[in-house]
Amino acid sequence: MTCYLLPIENPEARYTLHVLRFNPETDEKPYWRSYQVPFVSTMTVIEALEYLWDQGEYIAFRTNCREFTCGSCAMLINGKPQLACDTILQDDMRLEPLSRYGVLRDLVVDTEAIKKKLKDVKYWPVSANREKNFTVPPQVIDAYGQIYSRCIECACCLEACPASFNEASRFDGPMYALLLARAANHPLDAMNRIQQASERGIWACVSCFECADVCPLDLSPAKEVAKFRRKAITQSLKRPFTFRKDKRYE
Ligand code: FES
Repeated sequence: MTCYLLPIENPEARYTLHVLRFNPETDEKPYWRSYQVPFVSTMTVIEALEYLWDQGEYIAFRTNCREFTCGSCAMLINGKPQLACDTILQDDMRLEPLSRYGVLRDLVVDTEAIKKKLKDVKYWPVSANREKNFTVPPQVIDAYGQIYSRCIECACCLEACPASFNEASRFDGPMYALLLARAANHPLDAMNRIQQASERGIWACVSCFECADVCPLDLSPAKEVAKFRRKAITQSLKRPFTFRKDKRYE
């Protein structure tokens, strides 16, 4: 891997980068190692890791698009889930793998559980009777473009959510709720998404909005959860009801 093409601004200046290393085949437990990286004001964490590869430090990590599109480079940076390709390197940064999955090696985690759950959720529109020549209305295309199809499934929100990965709550997590909202907002979708969202644990969401805080695309899964919960409650009411406006939920 040789991708390190940034000009080194000051050959004397160095950043220290701490990485939690672990090879399940040879190490009993994870351990921290520190590395020196040249100071480059625009260097991202991914570029720093690539630089270290070029120096023979083979730290395992995932990357693909390098432009916040594939979601593969999510990791804990100073304890916060972030995309390594979207984070500028700073001195004394600490890199760890996401904590809620098995570590395959160093910063690479096993994402099979995520893929399996995505299949289970069936977040694509499930159509009962697809009409011929159906045209998707422009407002739906707009909502998809601005919200629903922007999720890159990086799992940062899953890492930040206190209610998911919690046996007591049985909440799938914010990313899945957002994807369910995507399906629910498609005019061809014929599944009862409100019931499905309830079954997948949206009532356990504590509305902390941590998912929105860490989303690299500025999406707000908690907002979609709130909309699902409002719809579920409204459906169960015997009379019309108007909710007070709250800009966090609009
Ligand atoms: S490498 Fe694709 S999102 Fe970071």
